Amino acid sequence: MQSLRDLLQEAQKNGVAIGHFNISDLVLLKAVFAGAQELKLPVLVGLSEGEREFVGVRQIAALVKSLREEFDYPIFLNADHTHSLAKGVEAAKAGFDSIVFDLSALPFEENIRQTKQAVEALKAINPSMLVEGEIGDIGTGSEIHDHAPDLKKGLSTPAEAKQFVDGTGVDILAPAVGNMHGMLMSMVEGETKKHLDIERIGAIKKAAGVFMTLHGGSGTDDGDLHKAIAGGINIVHVNTELRVAWRHGLEQGLAKHPEEVVPYKILPPAVDAVKEVVLSRLRVFNGGRHFAQGV
Ligand code: 13P
Repeated sequence: MQSLRDLLQEAQKNGVAIGHFNISDLVLLKAVFAGAQELKLPVLVGLSEGEREFVGVRQIAALVKSLREEFDYPIFLNADHTHSLAKGVEAAKAGFDSIVFDLSALPFEENIRQTKQAVEALKAINPSMLVEGEIGDIGTGSEIHDHAPDLKKGLSTPAEAKQFVDGTGVDILAPAVGNMHGMLMSMVEGETKKHLDIERIGAIKKAAGVFMTLHGGSGTDDGDLHKAIAGGINIVHVNTELRVAWRHGLEQGLAKHPEEVVPYKILPPAVDAVKEVVLSRLRVFNGGRHFAQGV
């Protein structure tokens, strides 16, 4: 089976991006896997520190490994938004394929210093683990926000991106390019969309020369996503859209069976609702195409 690094290289060559979907229960994992399988596309599932706390670090590693082995399928596991080396080491030891080591809230020089240390420590545990570093400000929380944060001051520059990549040795860079975590209610209702600074993405890619991730994918305009991927984005993260679908699906399941107590009879609409989002986002990330050789 191809490694995550190989698949990222292939995505880059083909002008497509790998979908990264956050999960925090079995409904979400089943839905993400079913969506990826239906389109025969590799997929990344990610869990933030909070999501890992709920599911269990070794438990999710065992589940994803079991899917990979039983179905001989390229499903990979990412330790999303990890803020301390101790949590990173825990994920590396459990067998995670990649990590987002996120010290973007620290002063820039300190972010470089500590991210470099983390790259060295994590690769000593697992040399094939891909380490992503994050710069700039894209807000926090895959939730529905009342107000959009002012992201203008936290945008990343090509010079910063190069300095960060050269100074840390990260495999993947997550820059701030107009993206933000979470959605406004107007985005949930489909009335407004997030827009990206496409020119900045291209300039940062040229300067940094590494794989790049777009965080905060939920609610982003499809056309902007196509252009961002053409400009050098290799992974797109989606969380809030899945959470919204999960809740709607769960409400439907409960409404349909008001007296039911059997979870596997209540939960299928939640799996279906999340899977629909995964399918539609994966289609956008792949511009309607599948990987050349499929899965
Ligand atoms: P959204 O919740 O905006 O999709 O962002 C998800 C994300 O970037 C997780 O790392």
